Amino acid sequence: MSKAAILGGTGIYNLPGIEIDEVRVTNEYGEAVYYQGKGDYADIIFMTRHGVDHTTPPHRVNYRANMKALKDAGVKRIMATYAVGSITAKYQVMELAIMRDFLDFTNGREFSFFDTIERGIGHVEMSIPYCPVMSAKAIELADKHNIRVNDGATYVATNGPRFESPAEIKMYQMLGGDVVGMTGCPEVYLAGELGMVMGAVALPINLAAGLEEKITIHEGNIDEVRENMVRLMLDVLKSTTDDACEAPILL
Ligand code: HPA
Repeated sequence: MSKAAILGGTGIYNLPGIEIDEVRVTNEYGEAVYYQGKGDYADIIFMTRHGVDHTTPPHRVNYRANMKALKDAGVKRIMATYAVGSITAKYQVMELAIMRDFLDFTNGREFSFFDTIERGIGHVEMSIPYCPVMSAKAIELADKHNIRVNDGATYVATNGPRFESPAEIKMYQMLGGDVVGMTGCPEVYLAGELGMVMGAVALPINLAAGLEEKITIHEGNIDEVRENMVRLMLDVLKSTTDDACEAPILL
């Protein structure tokens, strides 16, 4: 049975109302933990990239071990979520953003499976980094359930764990960035290198540096918004198919 995965970020530590079993694996890249759904959700896997106790900072996440673990578990499609800061006015705090593109400013991370001669040479194509079929379904279902959603976000991936300076945010704005987070890369292209398809929803939890006097993380109704977002992503996975989604090609 092919499987689909929810990949959760900050604040996403379980799947609402779904029974899961913990699975710990070790592969050639290190250790990874994921959660296998039960019953009607036997085709769903949940992974929380910072760990259930949020013990792994963004620059220390073992992205390769995580992606390889999902691949080995039979995952074809992934819906990933990212907590972000909003750079542009279109992407309001607490309104979901559908990610369509990225700018990668990470460094010092293990960012490819194609880094030894044994594994060969591979150049994953990133013309369409995030699956248009799952993205369109996310918008359709969000509209149906009256969840506010803004399409077309370009995600800026920074290294963290520090936040940005105002000048950096101004630069990202000038480059066309819409939201900024610390974990979107190399995750999306590692998934692509393994032939998995990714759709991504960002949740702005603050205005980026320099847009307010100090960064203020929104708390208020955040749990409710996060729960709606996870339900939406599950619905997207359940109402799309592997066949409808094309993995990025390797050149
Ligand atoms: N910058 C980078 N990463 C983030 C932010 C931010 O403002 N908010 C949440 N993750």
